[in-house]
Amino acid sequence: MRFEAEFTPWDQGAVPACLADYVKRHPAPASVLIPGCGAAHEIRLFTEAGWPVAAIDFSAAAVSKARALLGPLGKYVHEADFFADSPVMKSIEVVYERAFLCALPLALRAAWAKRMAELIPRGGRLIGFFYFDQTEKGPPFGITRDTLTGMLAPAFDLIEDSAPSDSIPVFAGKERWQVWQRR
Ligand SMILES: C[S@@+](CC[C@H](N)C(=O)[O-])C[C@H]1O[C@@H](n2cnc3c(N)ncnc32)[C@H](O)[C@@H]1O
Repeated sequence: MRFEAEFTPWDQGAVPACLADYVKRHPAPASVLIPGCGAAHEIRLFTEAGWPVAAIDFSAAAVSKARALLGPLGKYVHEADFFADSPVMKSIEVVYERAFLCALPLALRAAWAKRMAELIPRGGRLIGFFYFDQTEKGPPFGITRDTLTGMLAPAFDLIEDSAPSDSIPVFAGKERWQVWQRR
């Protein structure tokens, strides 16, 4: 509905610098899934670097918007639910998270962590941006460090954690770039 109304305040309209830097530092391509992809600006970066990419969103309006923006690269965008089985989510090595976890109802958080651990094989990575805040209302729903650690630490090790320099106003000062490696 927000896509139909063109109300997408989370949309950075560009590739975040920490992600561009990560891809530059990792020249060996890895297959990547972008769940809750929205406009999926990151597809261009991944494909130009040779990374096989599948971007999914369960909103038909989001998928249409992304495909319209991406032109020929729109073929990498699929309408699918992150929590349901789909062939596009097979053989993933990396999952890129941005503004997906914080868009989910709190009741789905445990399922999100379980699904990440299922999809990402040993040595694979969950990379991206995490919105740390303590708010009652959302979306976006901020999370505390302790809660996120409690969700991911049973299956992942945190190997990068830094402050982005180009956050959009909704997330400024409250998001971190993190990389979690699957054990
Ligand atoms: C806040 S938007 C973020 C979009 C994009 N990642 C970005 O950074 O601009 C969250 C997106 O997650 C999608 N979404 C929510 N639940 C989903 C699910 N279970 N499976 C797939 N997409 C989902 C929504 O439709 C929405 O496009």
